[in-house]
Amino acid sequence: MPKAPFYFLGNSEAEKENYKHVLTSTIDAIINSINDDGAYAGASVSDLQKTLSEIEMLPKQGIGWEAMLAEVKQRILPHFLKTWSPNYMAHLHSPALVEAIASELIIATFNQSMDSWDQSPIATEVEVEVINRLCKLYNLGSNADGVFTSGGSQSNLSGITMARDWYCNTVLHQDVKKDGLPSSYNKLRLYTNEVSHFSMEKSAHLLGLGYNAVRKVPIDDNCRMDIKALEAMITEDKKSGLLPFCVVATIGTTDYGSIDNVNQIRTLCDAHGMYLHADAAYGSGVQLSETYRSRLGNLGLCDSITVDFHKMFLLPISCGAVLVKNKENFSVFTLHADYLNREEDEAEGYTNLVGKSLQTTRRFDALKVWMAFQQRGEDGFSQIIDTCMGNATYLAEYLSNHPNFTIAVQPEISSVVFRYNGSCELNKKIRKELLHHHQVVIGQTVYKEKTYLKFTLLNPNLTKEHLTALIDLIESIAKQLEK
Ligand SMILES: Cc1ncc(COP(=O)(O)O)c(C=O)c1O
Repeated sequence: MPKAPFYFLGNSEAEKENYKHVLTSTIDAIINSINDDGAYAGASVSDLQKTLSEIEMLPKQGIGWEAMLAEVKQRILPHFLKTWSPNYMAHLHSPALVEAIASELIIATFNQSMDSWDQSPIATEVEVEVINRLCKLYNLGSNADGVFTSGGSQSNLSGITMARDWYCNTVLHQDVKKDGLPSSYNKLRLYTNEVSHFSMEKSAHLLGLGYNAVRKVPIDDNCRMDIKALEAMITEDKKSGLLPFCVVATIGTTDYGSIDNVNQIRTLCDAHGMYLHADAAYGSGVQLSETYRSRLGNLGLCDSITVDFHKMFLLPISCGAVLVKNKENFSVFTLHADYLNREEDEAEGYTNLVGKSLQTTRRFDALKVWMAFQQRGEDGFSQIIDTCMGNATYLAEYLSNHPNFTIAVQPEISSVVFRYNGSCELNKKIRKELLHHHQVVIGQTVYKEKTYLKFTLLNPNLTKEHLTALIDLIESIAKQLEK
């Protein structure tokens, strides 16, 4: 029977008791650290650095569980950003559903790795089941498949990799996987919304194409890709000998939540022999809303889709997926290793998910989706999304009618970008003042060269009254600062 110091949870009573003690005392510490509704207690960068520098991070002799937990309670827990706070709305960064926190405990305890079936038997089958349901949800057809990722950036990199290899293989007859990039690599072009996520450029760089391969398409007044401009750019580029291979439509831009028109973009891609990837990291959750689903267009027209569960689905980080209409495109990531995913495995009915992923060792994040979908069902998620989107519509209308504020664009999802009618410096100061003196954490961005503030509404507990009270607070801070 293992004795202290314990390493793991195991079959002995002593190990089980230790596991329970460690976890229940952690839960108590977390709960006791929450004493108000604030989003952030306000400590400055130097305050935080000081509190950490006071103790030796790697002592020669460990201080043991109880003393270590006391340090966590004193130095770390009080300074967390509280994502569930009604005063937190800075980023596409959601609070975590409680049942998904329980999933995290199960995931960490059993520590399955999703690369091969023998490291994750039931976990593999759960992920396959969740992916199949997601492919159905997004209408991707009978040859679709998908895999869980660390989030939107990795899903976009995966989608764009498949686009590049598909184009090189089918149009340029170059097997990139075997022979590397074609000699015309620096002519490849990818088209995306002017305000799309920076993972477009990052992916282009990592894929050997460079930032210049990313063509930013002008946007209309609602920050959606201007389809006429897109068509003109593709045609022009083709005439100059460039190789347009992919359009990435953004289904919910990071700042504005604007939605590109996939139906029209699909028609263009077909006309020009191009791949269509949808970055739906933000907007994918809207597919569960009966009221608002039609705003997304038919995502089933896309060759691949980025879906993020750690945004609108309110699941803990990390949790994302890339879904693909034609599962053969995943062969980009398939390699066989004798020790891991033997070729004969599949014939015998074993699924080794490593063949679809950029990662080898990979978390069992699909459990969070499985548990939350089971518990809340489509209706539960529809209600969450409808509330957040309804709040954004309300706030945008309130601000539009307010003499001291201006909104940037009408929200299509749940982000409201607005400014106090004053200087850019004043708007910047308002955000810092809220952060350090009012326990309120909001976003800031630039729209048409002016500083704007941003509420990203992902918390279904937020009320319209609270939102208007925050606007009143911002107005009174602005007036104070203006004096
Ligand atoms: C539109 C969009 N795409 C991709 C990403 C990147 O997602 P992740 O942070 O999960 O890597 C984000 C992040 O906010 C995003 O807003």
